Amino acid sequence: MVTEAVNCFQCHFRLGEQPPADPIAWAPDMARVHERLRDPWVLAWLRNPGVVYPGTAMPANFSGEPPQYQDRYPNSTNDQQLRVVLEWLYNFDRVTLSAAKTH
Ligand code: HEC
Repeated sequence: MVTEAVNCFQCHFRLGEQPPADPIAWAPDMARVHERLRDPWVLAWLRNPGVVYPGTAMPANFSGEPPQYQDRYPNSTNDQQLRVVLEWLYNFDRVTLSAAKTH
């Protein structure tokens, strides 16, 4: 979801590693989100960044009707996709750090 469907790391730092996007589009490191932000805020943010922060460069990926990414996640709803992304963000240490070690 977060690397193949949307690719959050196009803009977001991953454990200090620079994103490929233009520096003007760079966004905060995903590894720190769970330390800095509470999940209800992150949920609202992911649902529609432009409502939380008008003018943000971050796109709304999970508010389409019908929901996006049906080719990869058939019959998934926006809420299901959001829950998966949220769980990933709040388990970032376990999921991504252990994956990074094998690379
Ligand atoms: C096109 C670039 C872009 C993409 C793609 C993107 N973001 Fe963002 N995101 C941003 C920017 C820029 C900000 C910082 C807010 C601002 O300056 O507008 C941000 C902020 C955030 C924040 C708040 C972080 C903090 O520490 O303050 C979270 C959480 C977040 N994004 C999650 C995601 C997730 C999850 C994805 C993938 C599903 C994603 N973003 C994809 C650009 C992007």
